[in-house]
Amino acid sequence: MKEKTLKILLENKGEFISGEYISEKLNISRSAVWKHIKAIKDEGYAIESVTKKGYKLIDYPDVMESEIIKSKLKTNIIGKEIIYFETIDSTNDYAKKIAKKSSEGTIVISEEQTKGKGRMGRFWHSSKKDGIYMSIILKPDILPNDAPIITQIAGLSVVKALNKLNVDAKIKWPNDILINNKKVCGILTEMSIEIDRIDYIVLGIGINVKTLDFSEDIKNIATSILKEGYNLNRLDIITLVLDEFENLYLDYINTKNKQIIANMCKEYSALIGKDIYVIQFNDRKRAKCIDINKEGNLIVQYEDGSIKELISGEVSI
Ligand code: BTN
Repeated sequence: MKEKTLKILLENKGEFISGEYISEKLNISRSAVWKHIKAIKDEGYAIESVTKKGYKLIDYPDVMESEIIKSKLKTNIIGKEIIYFETIDSTNDYAKKIAKKSSEGTIVISEEQTKGKGRMGRFWHSSKKDGIYMSIILKPDILPNDAPIITQIAGLSVVKALNKLNVDAKIKWPNDILINNKKVCGILTEMSIEIDRIDYIVLGIGINVKTLDFSEDIKNIATSILKEGYNLNRLDIITLVLDEFENLYLDYINTKNKQIIANMCKEYSALIGKDIYVIQFNDRKRAKCIDINKEGNLIVQYEDGSIKELISGEVSI
C-alpha cells in the first residue's frame, strides 16, 4: 500500500491530493494513509502536508526502483517489465540470459555494475548511483543488417531527452553522446540472429550522470552530466529517454524510413562539417566529415580529396 500511495503522489507531483482521496482510492483508513506518507517522507521524499488540502509531493530522491520508473513512464511496450538490481555484473549479460523468455521492451537496470562492458572489449565504469546502466530487450521484425539503425535510434533518444532537459548534447558517430566534446554516454548493442531474422537485440545504454572522478586513462575524454554543470535527476533522464526511444522505435518499425533517422542523426551530429581523425588498424588519418547517408554511414573526405563511406569504426575529433 505504501507503494500505491507513492504512485498516487508521483502521478500528481506538484499538486495537493487529499488524504480522503487516497484513503478512498486504496480502501484504507486515513491513519493508514498518514502512516504511509510518513514512511515515504523517511525515504527522502519532500512532501508538504497542509490541513484541509492534503499532501503535495515536491521532490523525490534519486532512486530508480521499477515501480517508481513505471509510474512516470508514458510508454506502451518499453518498460512494461522492469527488472531492477542494486548491483549486477553487467545488465547486458543478464538481459541476454533472459532475452528469449522475456517480452519485447523488458528493461534490466542496476544501481551499479561490477563488470560493465563497453564496445571493443573495453570496461565501462559503472560506480554506484553515479550513472544509468540499463539494457532494453527488443525483438524487432527487421533484417539483421538493419540492426545498427536501432543503435542509432537509442543514441537519438538519449540526445533528444538531454536536449529536452536543456543539456547541449550531441552524437558522435556512430553512437557516442558528447557534452562539450567529451563522452557522457555509450551504447553497446548485442544480438542473437537466426539466418535472416533477429532473435533478439539487447541494447545497453550507459550514461554518466553524477560521476566526478574518472580514471587516468579516460579522464580527458569522458565526462558526466553533473561535471558539465547540469544537476539532473536520473529518474527524469531515464523516463524521457525511454519515452523518446519508444516513439522513434515504433515509428521506424512501422515505416522502415531510414531517411528520417539519418536526418535526425545529422541534426544532432557533433561531426558534420568538422575536421576529424578516422582510426583504422592502429592508424589515424585526417578527414573532413561531410555527411551521414540514408544507411546511417559516415561520409568523409580525406586530405587527398578522395571521398569514402564509413560503415563502422571509430573516429575522433
Ligand atoms: C561504449 O563502449 O561506448 C558502450 C558502453 C555501454 C555501457 C552500457 S551500461 C549498461 C549496459 N551493460 C553493460 O555491461 N554495458 C552497457
